[in-house]
Amino acid sequence: MQNVPTHIAIMMDGNGRWGEKRGLTRSQGHFAGSKTMENIIDASLELGVKILTLYAFSSENWTRPEEEVKYLMDLPVIYLNEKLPKFIQKDIRICVLGDINGLPIHTREAVKKAVDQKSNNSKLIVNFALNK
Ligand code: FPP
Repeated sequence: MQNVPTHIAIMMDGNGRWGEKRGLTRSQGHFAGSKTMENIIDASLELGVKILTLYAFSSENWTRPEEEVKYLMDLPVIYLNEKLPKFIQKDIRICVLGDINGLPIHTREAVKKAVDQKSNNSKLIVNFALNK
């Protein structure tokens, strides 16, 4: 396919408002955002994009309400536990940008596990910016 960018970077924004507008919680908005993220990953693979960078949590996001931060730290665990086998099967390599030492242990472990599964997975690189 012609004119496909090699690298696409996406700032995720509006998840919370998306949820609130529909009478849902902000966390439900983030969960829906994670589903959209999956569609974007699949579409990137299909189009032949080589690198996809997804800004998932900025170092400024720690000031959000405690419950929301907790959910945003649980979401990578839920998401990666479910999707990692599929990522490996589809030749996707996961990388992380940001200070993962600042993440809660369960989040850090899930992220590390995903990053460690890197042998030969090179069709698409997905960079998650976390605490960046
Ligand atoms: C921005 O919306 C979105 C986020 C802060 C979080 C996005 C993260 C995910 C969807 C999942 C991450 C998963 C992994 C595996 C790293 P916002 O809350 O800034 O929206 P608003 O503008 O409505 O407040």
